[in-house]
Amino acid sequence: MIISVQEAISLLKEGKLVAIPTETVYGLAADAFNFKTIERIFFAKGRPADNPLIVHISSLEQLNLLTDSITDAHLALAKHFWPGPLTMLFKKKASVLDKITAGLDTVAIRMPNHPIALEIIKETGPLVAPSANKSGKPSTTRVEHVLADYSGLIPVVDGGKCEIGIESTVLDCTSEPFQILRPGAIGVIELKTVVPNSVFQTDSYNSQQTEKPKSPGMKYTHYSPNAKVRWMNPDELEGEYDESVRYLHLHGEYNSLEHKGFHTNLTLLSKDLYDQFRYADELGVQEIAIEPFSIDTDTLSIALFNRIQKAIGVKAD
Ligand code: TXA
Ligand code: MG
Repeated sequence: MIISVQEAISLLKEGKLVAIPTETVYGLAADAFNFKTIERIFFAKGRPADNPLIVHISSLEQLNLLTDSITDAHLALAKHFWPGPLTMLFKKKASVLDKITAGLDTVAIRMPNHPIALEIIKETGPLVAPSANKSGKPSTTRVEHVLADYSGLIPVVDGGKCEIGIESTVLDCTSEPFQILRPGAIGVIELKTVVPNSVFQTDSYNSQQTEKPKSPGMKYTHYSPNAKVRWMNPDELEGEYDESVRYLHLHGEYNSLEHKGFHTNLTLLSKDLYDQFRYADELGVQEIAIEPFSIDTDTLSIALFNRIQKAIGVKAD
């Protein structure tokens, strides 16, 4: 069911779940200070209890409700990148529910850059919001995805197609050097423009999973469509397209509606990736073949590589 912003605010205040748009992906939102609703989020998503949630805020004042440990570097990052696709980990206040943080002493916080999300959170106060997909499915970047995953049972505010299309960067700011736990649209290059003297250490995003991951969500293989995902060099394609494969090309004519071909650049690929995954499943194709791209210092290339490797089934970071 699609609802208005005002209806969303009322439902959230009553302790209900509502899916809301953000600039990254849709989030399944609930009051961060209501234990019962937080439980419902895990249940509705089918999410393991050891995977903590991000708390979303609309102002720096709301940050003080969640943490007492804000340094100058944190503040500089928040002021520069918020609202935006950067989630920062802080030492949590005792009042932050353990259910949110899965028992960790840190809380993940971000201010989403979407007018609807900000308008809602301004009225409701901090909201937890994991990506609004069922656990195991690709994240939701259009309202139709949310309606499909929950058979229309979760009310959703329509904010159009998400601008970025992949989830926020998760940055651990509780230890030196700060560390990127999940790559996103903001990377080392951008972070260093604000805090050049702090060393940001990126993980190897395709390494084998360590035993105790710092970001619990990263150990789960998700973002996966039903179709098998693989990399495919263009020279593997000898003229004929195979009907059972959906090709995501990075070169050639733009042709997104054409079953057999798709052209994009990395920004468009990011915006379209999960939509394409879901579309491929609707078409019932066996495989999604993605043209490789170079992973260099380009922030989006690193984030996209991470998500695609996950979909392929390689345990990334
Ligand atoms: O772009 C996004 O971040 C979206 C939108 C809705 O804001 N949200 C999102 O939430 O992707 P979710 O729950 O799908 O992913 C949150 C990630 C998980 O990998 C989780 O393990 C990690 O953040 N995380 C949350 N709290 C953490 C904490 N205290 N320590 C380490 N990792 C944490
Ligand atoms: Mg998620």
